[in-house]
Amino acid sequence: MKILSTVPLLCLLFGATHTLAQKKKPNVLIILADDVGTGDVPGYWNNEIVDMPNLRALQEKGVTFTDAHSTPLCAPSRYSLLSGNQPHRGTEVFGTWGLYPSGQTQFYGRQQSIASMLKTGDYHTSMFGKWHIGGGLPDGYNKTNILSSQDWENGRLSNGPADHGFDDSFYTLEGIQGAPYSFFRNGKLLTEEEDIVYWEKGEHVSQGGNTFEILNPGEGDKHWDSTSYNKKIYRKAETFIDNHIENHSDKPFFMYFSLGSVHIPHTPPKQYFDGTKIAGRYEDPHLDLLFEMDLIVGSLTKKLEDENLMEDTIVIFTSDNGGLHMKYPNRVLRGFKGNLYENGHRVPFIMRYDGVLPAGERRDEHYIALWDIYATIAQLTDLKIDEYSAQDSKSFKEYAISGSAGAPRKYLTVYKPQTDKHQAAIRDGDFKFIRDYINKWEALYNLKDDIGEKHNLLVTDFDKYNGLRKKLRNKLRQNGPCPADRGHSFKLRHGKKAGTTVNCSFFRKYSESKCYWQPFGEVVCNSICGRFRKFCRLWKDYEAEFLDN
Ligand SMILES: *[C@@H]1O[C@H](CO)[C@@H](O)[C@H](O)[C@H]1NC(C)=O
Ligand SMILES: *[C@@H]1O[C@H](CO)[C@@H](O)[C@H](O)[C@H]1NC(C)=O
Ligand SMILES: *[C@@H]1O[C@H](CO)[C@@H](O)[C@H](O)[C@H]1NC(C)=O
Repeated sequence: MKILSTVPLLCLLFGATHTLAQKKKPNVLIILADDVGTGDVPGYWNNEIVDMPNLRALQEKGVTFTDAHSTPLCAPSRYSLLSGNQPHRGTEVFGTWGLYPSGQTQFYGRQQSIASMLKTGDYHTSMFGKWHIGGGLPDGYNKTNILSSQDWENGRLSNGPADHGFDDSFYTLEGIQGAPYSFFRNGKLLTEEEDIVYWEKGEHVSQGGNTFEILNPGEGDKHWDSTSYNKKIYRKAETFIDNHIENHSDKPFFMYFSLGSVHIPHTPPKQYFDGTKIAGRYEDPHLDLLFEMDLIVGSLTKKLEDENLMEDTIVIFTSDNGGLHMKYPNRVLRGFKGNLYENGHRVPFIMRYDGVLPAGERRDEHYIALWDIYATIAQLTDLKIDEYSAQDSKSFKEYAISGSAGAPRKYLTVYKPQTDKHQAAIRDGDFKFIRDYINKWEALYNLKDDIGEKHNLLVTDFDKYNGLRKKLRNKLRQNGPCPADRGHSFKLRHGKKAGTTVNCSFFRKYSESKCYWQPFGEVVCNSICGRFRKFCRLWKDYEAEFLDN
């Protein structure tokens, strides 16, 4: 409380003149951690193991959302954050992860990323770190010699950050977990041809003498060293800010900073820039990496403060999915990354925007999602969202500013569409309903008094909750990967037949190219276009099951 005491005074002094409307468009920094759950950071369940003064400072100067959600998986969450859509609106209902032979990303049709949206407001945009939502190689895909089979002299990566609204990008396609083990800048490979090597699975020693691990063999740079990943992307981010100040200060900037921490392999660096010991600081390298993550957050915020940019910058810290710590599981929440119990998809979420958001407050009342960032940033920057983009995004601006504002969204659905593990969950206030479509179980929890998801109300009180169960089954279906199409007709807006009145039968002869140029098909005829019949056909009995409920 002591730290917070000066802030209300400042608000009083400046409150009258310092309103949102008069502010120049703010910079936006989104820091996305990897596999960091609410049990891994301070401010949630009092079970923090690692000292994180920089995240605590961010909380003291901003707003901490305690009921924020992602998907339980990496790549689908990244698409959701950047697109403002639930994952199944993208190219693959299962998500697009690394490189694809077809060169696709998860962005489907005309969907615009949050960077593209911000560019309509003349933002200077950047991306650092882990991309992991697809892309294509210049000369076709060969997993064995993924890099050396390409002509990098003339070729570049397609469908990467540079093709989705980022002016400047420095990234790896799969973070630290998969090949190619090389950085790209704006689509250009940064590894010289003679430096391409094949990294075998197992432990290696880098040229700088650091021990690191390769989990999945494949080609990469002979200088690869995953221990230095986060420090490396931080340095590039710092350079971007310097360049922004000197050469682009007439514009606001957007930075998507996508950390390698704390995905496996857990090989922390020996020390931080200033010599602070990292590796071996804690009894487990996973914890060392959490410590390093906090230092990086500290460097980013300090850079903004030192350059007097913090006043005009929205900072968001969050994670792609819940925690993955087997040795130190979340003591309050059930589950892990990858499943639909709370610790699988509830993520840390801190937002700071000096002078607009209050300092040191918590938001416990309503849920928000990673795909809500898009609409929230659009509203805070006073920019319009393209009509075919960010369909699932709801702005939580008012809720962030004043906790007493209403709920940003009524229902929150989280899907994990996988052929062998298809699951879905939905929140309706304090209630959470989970369906497992393969093993055919259902559960309903009241999180208000059962945040650990221990008491399945459908077991103890089926008759009392059967009505709610039926309602939530239907809501899951309406929002999910295999919804019904709308019955009414509509006018086509694009293509040769623009202006013609059609109904969903127009799309029924499935053709990807037809859907691609008619984004309205995605909006009105969900089952046919964006939400792939390929997947829904796997679920024939799914349809019947829903209809009789
Ligand atoms: C991939 O490259 C390897 C090694 O050059 C070659 O043996 C293989 O036939 C290639 N595969 C394809 C699909 O081109
Ligand atoms: C500003 O732009 C010039 C010209 O491109 C470049 O040489 C310089 O390094 C830039 N400044 C910074 C701080 O990056
Ligand atoms: C949908 O369009 C087709 C072809 O234009 C037409 O035959 C059919 O009657 C329409 N269906 C409805 C429900 O309007």
